[in-house]
Amino acid sequence: MLRDSFGRRLNYLRVSLTDRCNLRCSYCMPPGCPVGFIRRENLLTAEEVKRLVRVFVSLGVEKVRLTGGEPLMRRDFWDVFNGISRLPVKLNLTTNGVMLRDFLPGLRGRLHHLNVSLDTLSPKRYARITGGSRRDFYRVLDAINTALEMDFPLVKINTVVIRGFNEDELLNFVEFARDRRVAVRFIEFMPFPGNGWGADKVVPVGEMKEVIGRFYPLKPVRGFSEVSRDYTIPGFKGLVGFIGSLTQPFCDTCNRLRLTADGCLKLCLLSPVEVNLRRMLRDGADDDEIREAIKRAVFFKPKGAENTVRNAERNRRMVAIGG
Ligand code: GTP
Ligand code: 5AD
Ligand code: SF4
Repeated sequence: MLRDSFGRRLNYLRVSLTDRCNLRCSYCMPPGCPVGFIRRENLLTAEEVKRLVRVFVSLGVEKVRLTGGEPLMRRDFWDVFNGISRLPVKLNLTTNGVMLRDFLPGLRGRLHHLNVSLDTLSPKRYARITGGSRRDFYRVLDAINTALEMDFPLVKINTVVIRGFNEDELLNFVEFARDRRVAVRFIEFMPFPGNGWGADKVVPVGEMKEVIGRFYPLKPVRGFSEVSRDYTIPGFKGLVGFIGSLTQPFCDTCNRLRLTADGCLKLCLLSPVEVNLRRMLRDGADDDEIREAIKRAVFFKPKGAENTVRNAERNRRMVAIGG
């Protein structure tokens, strides 16, 4: 089992399948933000992703989340997905939902949880925030509704809240959970290179909760998610949650490791510390050697939220981490 120097047990691996995305969310890749994608030859092949995930599972990883950029953009998505879904893990997916509809039949019954990013319920604003089209907005909504009709487990909706941008939609999003089996999770805006972050744009989850609490009685539920604090509302099918990465960090209980699309083990979302496993793999290391390298590396997993703002400019862009 993997443990770090703080005694945290690391049993959750987030795998970024690509750093490409079919959207350009203004808080993720604003115009003028430095681009520079991973070179094709440095992207892990499907076989390499599957092998590394197998190695992590042999070290006690029990939960895997596929992320991006946009993971569904990867042409060999099903090859990777089918390989990982054979392993004894809870398999999860985070997507922006634009391409999701067509993938639902293949995903049905095979996912622990499906997380969809959606920052606004207005088609016009969606186009402005994501650089996508209004039609993309309806595609995302359709995919969420269809997943629910197809009896997917509760779908998690990720909503990054930014001051002066979408904070006026908090109550609309709460209403979204009235008749749907969704968990709407409001997320504090975090800094990444070139993403236009400023402390003045952060809406602390305490404030969000206070605003929502004025109109809805929020009853805490425990054990539903590791990062969000979740609440039920009487008469609602869905839940409302808050992810306070900045004002209420959860580093003390963090169980996460990340594998980037170019095969680096990233020890913390908010820290630039990485170990290049791709190089080892391509230099002919066997599974035992990779296992040893992972064990040594994870020992140094930091508590990144302590230095969020200082680390931000040295970190990868969010599109290359996948949340
Ligand atoms: P589950 O708990 O399995 O549903 O996963 P999740 O909520 O972590 O997954 P998701 O991809 O939906 O991420 C939601 C948001 O949580 C991300 O956008 C980040 O804002 C935040 N987040 C995820 N992992 C971390 C982390 O390690 N540290 C911090 N500070 N925030 C994180
Ligand atoms: N701060 C917080 N969350 C972010 N995401 C993307 N950029 C940021 C940011 N700067 C979210 C996306 C997606 C999840 C994986 O990460 O909205 O839901
Ligand atoms: Fe938007 Fe996510 Fe794509 Fe970034 S990776 S542009 S947040 S959909």
